[in-house]
Amino acid sequence: MRFVELIRKKRNGDRLEKKHLQALVDAYTEGRLPDYQMAAFLMAVYFQSMESSELAAWTEAMLFSGQVLDLSGIDGAKVDKHSTGGVGDKVSLILAPLAAAAGLKVPMISGRGLGHTGGTLDKLESIPGFDVRQPVERFKELVDTLGIGLIGQTDEIAPADKKLYALRDVTATVECIPLIASSIMSKKLAEGIDSLVLDVKVGSGAFMKNIETARRLAQTMIDIGATMDRPVRALITDMDQPLGLTVGNSLEVIESIETLRGDGPDDLTEVTVELVCEMLDVAEGVSDREATKERLRGLLEDGSAMEIFAQCIEAQGGDPEVCSDPTRLPEAPHRVEFNARDAGFIESIDAEQVGIAAMELGAGRRTKEDSIDHAVGLVFHKKRGDEVTASDPILTIHYRDEASLSLAKERLRDAIVVGDEPGETPPLILDRLQ
Ligand code: URA
Repeated sequence: MRFVELIRKKRNGDRLEKKHLQALVDAYTEGRLPDYQMAAFLMAVYFQSMESSELAAWTEAMLFSGQVLDLSGIDGAKVDKHSTGGVGDKVSLILAPLAAAAGLKVPMISGRGLGHTGGTLDKLESIPGFDVRQPVERFKELVDTLGIGLIGQTDEIAPADKKLYALRDVTATVECIPLIASSIMSKKLAEGIDSLVLDVKVGSGAFMKNIETARRLAQTMIDIGATMDRPVRALITDMDQPLGLTVGNSLEVIESIETLRGDGPDDLTEVTVELVCEMLDVAEGVSDREATKERLRGLLEDGSAMEIFAQCIEAQGGDPEVCSDPTRLPEAPHRVEFNARDAGFIESIDAEQVGIAAMELGAGRRTKEDSIDHAVGLVFHKKRGDEVTASDPILTIHYRDEASLSLAKERLRDAIVVGDEPGETPPLILDRLQ
């Protein structure tokens, strides 16, 4: 069948066969299908969606467009976590060593930040010397011996997604649940994992702005996993305000180190412990969730998770001394407090605007090509529901120059609302799907 016929079928809402979906992905990855035809096909999917059998076939074709890691030689359950992205989301840095301390193997392949959301690779790269580009064999060795490897996407993993994502970005077809789900799942399953836990964020700082779409995305990914015999669980978690107290790369590493020591903020610790508990449950079954979470908190407090993080930093060329001496991380040259104008209660902190303010300081990228400043960012002293008096510092801005400071301040002024009432703080874990 000619490709134009496949585009027409999808446009008309007909179901496509597995071999045809495979042909589309293969031809596009190999450069035999031009961008204009794939763009038309993606737009047809945007409007007509995909049935679950089509989505499974599409994802499988993307998954096998490149290298799929074989971790079968490594003993233990290989489990990863994927977050749909947020502001102040440094969970991976704590979760991976904590899960390893609890006995899991975590082959984590992460991405960079874009726009208002941060990325694990950028945070890791603020550790002097840390190299996220490890050869596959070395990555496997790290997972086998330490229980974790923390690396970046390679050109060999799911190349179809790399090309498709770039095309979606410029054809207004990113915001489409089957396309998002297949994009995420093809990359994650290429890690060679046995099972996966998703942290689907919902709220102002998240991709998904309401809980219904977050649930639909989560369920779509769970269903894709099921067709490939990979159990997937999902937590839907709040991203209406930044997670934890810091936004910005080396500031988030410092907060991660504090959390790995058992001294982290409650929200960050809670989300991380819940996700690791879910990873243990999906991998080996957990009979008593409360006891498991207590054990996990113990692995933070007794230094076990921190020890694995330090070993991982050293094994990947970084300076492990940052764990005991965070002043070895990049520091911004200037700091200034951002104060409340009125007395009252913090009613809301718009996470997306906070993420953009951090980007304006230089902590994030506007386009994929931008370079970033690891040192700059924000440290919150107050969160939603907290009481403030007039001129109380709500946060401290770590900045490099006056121009970026004034842009960030202007944005923060609108992002943080102080009202008369403390308001309701929604739960952090909004739902759990399996
Ligand atoms: N993240 C991905 O990896 N893919 C998408 O399509 C959207 C978010």
